Formats: sequence, C-alpha cells, structure tokens
Amino acid sequence: MNDNTFYNIPSEICTKINEWLLKFPDGKKKPAIIFALHQIQKENKFIKKTHINSIAKFLGINEIDVYEVAAFYSMFELDKVGKHTISVCTNVSCMLNGSDEILSYLEEKLDLKVGTSSDKFFLKDERECLAACCGAPMMQVNHKYYENLTKEKIDEIIRDIDNE
Ligand code: FES
Repeated sequence: MNDNTFYNIPSEICTKINEWLLKFPDGKKKPAIIFALHQIQKENKFIKKTHINSIAKFLGINEIDVYEVAAFYSMFELDKVGKHTISVCTNVSCMLNGSDEILSYLEEKLDLKVGTSSDKFFLKDERECLAACCGAPMMQVNHKYYENLTKEKIDEIIRDIDNE
C-alpha cells in the first residue's frame, strides 16, 4: 500500500484511494483512476495537470493512462469552472427536440454566450450526447442532469440556484 501523503494529493484522499485499491487484486492500480479523479475534483472543482501527474505517481502508472481517462469523460473538468457550470447538449436527439432554442433562451436569460461566465454562472459549452437522449433536450448544471427542458423549467432551475 502507498504512503498516506503524496505530492498535492491531500492525505485523506490518499487514504480513500488506498481503501479503494483493496477491492482489486494486488498490483491492479488502474481501476482506481476514476475514483481518484472524482476525489480530486470534489476537493478542487477541477483537475489540474499536476493532479494527473500525482495520481499517476501515486498509483505507479503512466501519466497518459490517467490523462486519457480524465479527458475522455465529460464528468471531469480539466479547466477552471464557474460557481455554477452549465453544459447544454446539442447532439442529435436534443437538437431534434429543441436544444437550439433552449440554448438561446439560456444565453438570453443569463446574458451570456457559450464559453463566457458571470459571477454566478459559466455557460461552458455545447456538449456531445450526454447519454440522456430519452430526456432530450437536456443540460448539466454542475454535472447534475436536467432533462425534458422547457423555458419554464429553465426559469425554475435558475431561480432555485439563485435562491441558494
Ligand atoms: S443527444 Fe442529448 S443526451 Fe443524447
């Protein structure tokens, strides 16, 4: 088992990763990549290059193995995020169900363009399919899924976040 402190990975997270690794046969470290990335993101809101290096060193695997996972899954943020980060899916099912209109409405309502932020919101991007086609059109806010969107639903979601 690894030491409980490691580069810029807080010791509590190192402990959790070590506990997670107990579920797998000795020497099998890659199953802990996603778990480790989740823990880091929970702590830091996004994953820095240094985190990727540290996870790789901690697990004794190549940096590219960690980077590939972090870059592949849209649930991981590799850049700074806003207080509330919104991604709207504009892939086929969502597009056919009105995602363009939803995105325009959000831009107008938040007075933001895709890729820009205010104090409270970051309208991050248009996403490829987020695997919730049956709930199209949909978006993520801080990685939480909101489906079957309408303008009224968006009003409600934004109002709830504003009141937090
Ligand atoms: S196309 Fe939007 S979730 Fe699949």
